[in-house]
Amino acid sequence: MNCLAPSILSADFTCLGEQIQCVDRAGAQYVHIDVMDGAFVPSISFGMPLIKSIRCCTECIFDVHLMIEEPIRYIEEFVTCGADIITVHAESCTHLDRTIETIKNKGVRACVAVNPATNLSVLEYVLPLLDMVLIMTVNPGFGGQKYIPYCTEKIRTMRHILKERRLQTDIEVDGGITLSNVKEVIDAGANIIVSGSSIFHGDISQNVKEFLTLMR
Ligand code: DX5
Ligand code: ZN
Repeated sequence: MNCLAPSILSADFTCLGEQIQCVDRAGAQYVHIDVMDGAFVPSISFGMPLIKSIRCCTECIFDVHLMIEEPIRYIEEFVTCGADIITVHAESCTHLDRTIETIKNKGVRACVAVNPATNLSVLEYVLPLLDMVLIMTVNPGFGGQKYIPYCTEKIRTMRHILKERRLQTDIEVDGGITLSNVKEVIDAGANIIVSGSSIFHGDISQNVKEFLTLMR
């Protein structure tokens, strides 16, 4: 099933709860939550207190994307705050297998993200452990960047690998996804679509509905 995961990084934080309820009512299934530490990525976003406070606004799946060094240190806290899916970057974990194990032991879904320039081969051994793979389609750290075109081939390769290994793992894409290229990434094999600026700029409800129509 194709699902939409609006990234609240581009939301208006003065009325964050209302904007989350708006994407929920319009049919988005996930809420994508970008945590940045100013070390793994250049910028700093928000952390546990914010996630905790928005948990009561919606029953959407909380898809927490950790762009932080050694995320294993904070898995338990993010689960306590209400994460349903935790994504860690292959590039930021010294012990990737142990990090995945820690996420799964907490009873939430585990996902590993790879930056645009990272080879999919880093996933080879851990693939059967994962609920989702996140193919970054921009360099992580900021909303509103342009989609990197070579990532389409990477998504296609990932779906091919999963099919060959008879795995039904979700493929999420994140960065620069708009109404103009969402079909392209879905056709390549992605099924969980993150979008920030293309959802939260303009008419939010209308944007969600247009994405969902194209994703059907
Ligand atoms: C980027 C974040 C994204 C970001 C996407 O590092 O991981 O989730 O919010 O925003 P857009 O859709 O504007 O590229
Ligand atoms: Zn993200």
